[in-house]
Formats: sequence, C-alpha cells, structure tokens
Amino acid sequence: MADSQRAGADGRGRREDGGQTRVLFVCLGNICRSPTAEGVMRALVAQAGLQERVAIDSAGVGAWHVGSPPDRRAVAAARERGIVLEGRARQVRAEDFDDFDLLIGMDGENTRELRRLAPGREQREKVRMLREFDPANDVAVASQPSQPLARRVAGELDVPDPYYGAADRFEEVFDLVQAACEGLLAQIRSGEAP
Ligand code: 4NP
Repeated sequence: MADSQRAGADGRGRREDGGQTRVLFVCLGNICRSPTAEGVMRALVAQAGLQERVAIDSAGVGAWHVGSPPDRRAVAAARERGIVLEGRARQVRAEDFDDFDLLIGMDGENTRELRRLAPGREQREKVRMLREFDPANDVAVASQPSQPLARRVAGELDVPDPYYGAADRFEEVFDLVQAACEGLLAQIRSGEAP
C-alpha cells in the first residue's frame, strides 16, 4: 500500500487510463485477508509483467485497525509462500467507488456492507466477492452477478475471517486467496473482468 503503488485517486475512468484495471480488496479490518489478497495479486501481476495494466490496493469496512501493519500471523503465512505483505490498514472511503473498477469483498458480510455503502447502481455493480473468481469453485457459476445476491453471499463463497482462529486458519485463507487471485488475473487478461 505504498503511495506510489496505489491506484490513481484522480477519479478518471479506466479508458482514459489506457485500459488499466483498478482492484480494491476489502475485508473487515484490512490486516489479515485483504492485505493477503493485495500481496498475492501484486506478486501474480508482477510475475506476468502487468504492473502497468493492473492497479491494486486494499481496505477494511471497519476502522479499528486503521494505521496498523498486516497481522503478524498473516505475514507469516504469506512469507512461507514467498509473499511479502506490506502497507498500513485504511478504511474504505466514498471515492473508492469511483477510483476502482472492482471492489472485491472477502466474505458475504464485507460484500453486503460494500453494496450498502455504494452511492449508486453503477458503483454497486463493481462490488464482487473474491471467490467468485476461483475457477475451481463449484459455486462460481451460481455466483455470477446475474444471480440473486442472497445466493452469492450465502456463505459458501466466504474467505473465512481468521482473526480469532488458529494459525492454520491463516494458511487456509492464503490458499483460498491465491486460487481466487489466479482466476481474477486470468479474467482480467481475457477481458472477462473489467
Ligand atoms: P480481516 O480480519 O478482516 O481479515 O483483516 C479481522 C481483523 C480484525 C478483526 C476481525 C477480523 N477484529 O475484530 O478486530
């Protein structure tokens, strides 16, 4: 979440940005799941040489941890797989709905809150759930935006909140996030995702 890496906050649409896709990963506290997604996606995008094409940031719907670095358990789980988590937690802000093309919630609660905060229909349609992008997910089809929200946020697409869990919860989060981020990058490259 270094300023130099942040998606532009100038409110420009992506066509004026030369086709850049701007992705904001969102969880509750912005210290466990969404920084993990940010770190994994940054690494995948760098491996693909697409840093100019995809801009990435993360935020939380809650404000409790604003200014804090990622949780040390999330950092450890990521480090074991060669991924560095960086940045400081921040809360979702109104401009995010215009500054990003996709606002991606980690679980049904985050996603519902994002949809509630969205100022209009166009912005609400940018809100998705991370595991919708996991190609191995049986419910991926049922989770398409055309399907009723209740089905999409019924719980089976959650990246579970690891905060009060054991260390293996963080390993599970990492694996779910990695599979979904690979699918997300594939969709961005194919043009399926914005
Ligand atoms: P995150 O995890 O939403 O993945 O960052 C959590 C972090 C903090 C809390 C809950 C979840 N909390 O209750 O403080």
